[in-house]
Amino acid sequence: MKLKQLEGLLGSLEQFYNPKIELEQYPTGSHIASRMLYTAENSFGDVTNKVVADFGCGCGTLGIAAALLGAQHVVGLDIDAESLEIASENADELELDMEFVQCDIRNLRWEGQIIDTVVMNPPFGTRRKGADMDFLCVALKVASEAVYSLHKTTTREHVRRTALRDCHASSAEVLCELRYDVPHLYKFHKKKEVDIAVDLWRFVPKKNQ
Ligand SMILES: C[S@@+](CC[C@H](N)C(=O)[O-])C[C@H]1O[C@@H](n2cnc3c(N)ncnc32)[C@H](O)[C@@H]1O
Repeated sequence: MKLKQLEGLLGSLEQFYNPKIELEQYPTGSHIASRMLYTAENSFGDVTNKVVADFGCGCGTLGIAAALLGAQHVVGLDIDAESLEIASENADELELDMEFVQCDIRNLRWEGQIIDTVVMNPPFGTRRKGADMDFLCVALKVASEAVYSLHKTTTREHVRRTALRDCHASSAEVLCELRYDVPHLYKFHKKKEVDIAVDLWRFVPKKNQ
């Protein structure tokens, strides 16, 4: 599938109707999401025929992109039942066979590296400090090949240090820096859109013995 076609399909997905501030529910735009998954596949071969998990999948954008690029199996996980319902409808609309699981990522009890690739746009940790790194540490425990994740550029050194020192990463690379438009979802945002710089990361997990 061509990049533009992928971006177009992702652009048609339904997004959060009533975003919940405390869960940092803002969607990944189709421009970023398509490039994230396209890079994962075309530069690293981490999507097609792989088992992929989308952590904090929200309305399913990243997982759906993986399914459209030919992932063998995709599971989307989120704490919020309402979002999972939208994600499931989005997948049905595109006739994609995906699995959705309601859970708190912090309580995920999967044993071993049962996923090939994790993709995620975790909460940035602006509402609950450390939420981003909680997601990353769990992702690096269950993935065997790679974790792709978006983090605020201002946290770059912290993310690198924590991933390598505390979270089971053998490497941590910033693939590119992107402009992320957080839409005007919340009353405390004064401008129509809040534009922030985010890093697209690729982490490689240490192999379990
Ligand atoms: C920034 S949004 C990203 C949504 C979606 N991945 C996307 O790219 O459009 C973060 C998502 O993480 C979910 N979330 C927040 N805390 C969570 C937790 N502890 N466990 C599971 N999901 C959580 C939210 O409900 C929300 O859907």
